[in-house]
Amino acid sequence: MTDCQGDVEGASTPMELYEKLSEQGVKVRSLKSAKADKTKVDTAVQLLLKLKMDYKQMTGHDYKAGCPPSENDAAPNNGPAADVAGEDDTVDPWTVSTTNAKGVDYDKLIVVRFGSSKIDQELVDRIEKVCGQKPHRFLRRGVFFSHRDMHQVLDAYEKHKSFYLYTGRGPSSEAMHVGHLIPFIFTKWLQDVFDIPLVIQLTDDEKYLWKDLTVEECHRFAIENAKDIIACGFDINKTFIFSDLDYMGSSPEFYRNVVKIQKHVTFNQVKGIFGFTDSDCIGKISFPAIQAAPSFSNSFPHVFGSRKDIQCLIPCAIDQDPYFRMTRDVAPRIGYPKPALLHSTFFPALQGAQTKMSASDANSSIFLTDTPKQIKNKINKHAFSGGKDTVEEHRKYGGNADVDVSFMYLTFFLEDDEQLEKIRQDYTSGALLTGELKKILIETLQPMIAQHQERRKQVTDDLVKQFMTPRPLNFNL
Ligand code: TRP
Repeated sequence: MTDCQGDVEGASTPMELYEKLSEQGVKVRSLKSAKADKTKVDTAVQLLLKLKMDYKQMTGHDYKAGCPPSENDAAPNNGPAADVAGEDDTVDPWTVSTTNAKGVDYDKLIVVRFGSSKIDQELVDRIEKVCGQKPHRFLRRGVFFSHRDMHQVLDAYEKHKSFYLYTGRGPSSEAMHVGHLIPFIFTKWLQDVFDIPLVIQLTDDEKYLWKDLTVEECHRFAIENAKDIIACGFDINKTFIFSDLDYMGSSPEFYRNVVKIQKHVTFNQVKGIFGFTDSDCIGKISFPAIQAAPSFSNSFPHVFGSRKDIQCLIPCAIDQDPYFRMTRDVAPRIGYPKPALLHSTFFPALQGAQTKMSASDANSSIFLTDTPKQIKNKINKHAFSGGKDTVEEHRKYGGNADVDVSFMYLTFFLEDDEQLEKIRQDYTSGALLTGELKKILIETLQPMIAQHQERRKQVTDDLVKQFMTPRPLNFNL
């Protein structure tokens, strides 16, 4: 096992975890009394601490030697990998919530819980050096904040060994909001600066399995969403977009990889990672293999031929990490390189950073179909403000940019660093009022959304078909 959740795999019930903990406790004590090598003891202690944390997460109380868990401590729906270290935070592919107004505590999330690495200034500088371009604002501002193996990708790239990009979207409705664009905006930038091929998976099968929708609806949403994705400006010569419902049945190579992955992951493991229970349908249980398969280059023979050694880099929101921890665990066992990852934070709902935006609540987000007037009204009415209640108080005490959703949105979409910093200072000092801050956001988003709508109008059915046809892409590896 490699990554951090590996230790608890195989322990999907409180009792199993309790037994592991007891064993580990014995091991630590015997190592200590035998005065074993310090690093050995440290490693054993670390694992013990980790198991204790998982135990607390699973049962809601601390581990106590000699006190096995009770019947009521049944494993929750969201297994060990689902939580985060911040006690108030929950993050998994299906839920994102926190009680902290600043949002999820990402530092704790990556270091303690997911075991990924922080994207620090050094890495940002290195990306700049290797690609020769100013880092994207999402890198400069920590929107993409965590990674796995990015240094390795850059090492190889510097030695003229290239890589490909993989990202995706679960098409659960026709309506996409601005938060959905974040991975795509960033992926387009990566494609441009590194000049590399990209595959985009539309998991219409996943949405059929999870939601109360028909197969036809999910497939239709996939095509509609593809138009918004194409409108982000991807290079047709370097991009393959596919619907699982279409591509799975047409590509023996893809399906072979799905089967290989399925053979190397147990029910117990996916229960631990995704929190599946005995009453989940078997489609859900095997779905993670389908999301994993595009991480391996030979799943796309029309692009990569039979090469299975091409490194994959996956930009995605942090809630998708469980899928790729599983993928990275399986990869070496089936003879493939592990995909590298770049993780983004969540895009906050208008109501506040406690939750991710929801496509089913029209007022929680700015949709790509919103009119300028709707954008204005939603922001004025619903964007959570860090300002004071009265103008006098605001002038006197200043606002709190850290919890202000309009300010947060500007950090995502306002390109100019100096302007953003000035807004932050003026808002904090009280010189800038909430209404004025909202006006800046409205004037940033209105043209951005209008331009998106304009580009989407240009996307014809024929263009969608071209993007979605398996074909060779144009690149040098
Ligand atoms: N499961 C993702 C969702 O529901 C879609 C997805 C599939 C994805 N493959 C991906 C997202 C790769 C990011 C990277 O949105």
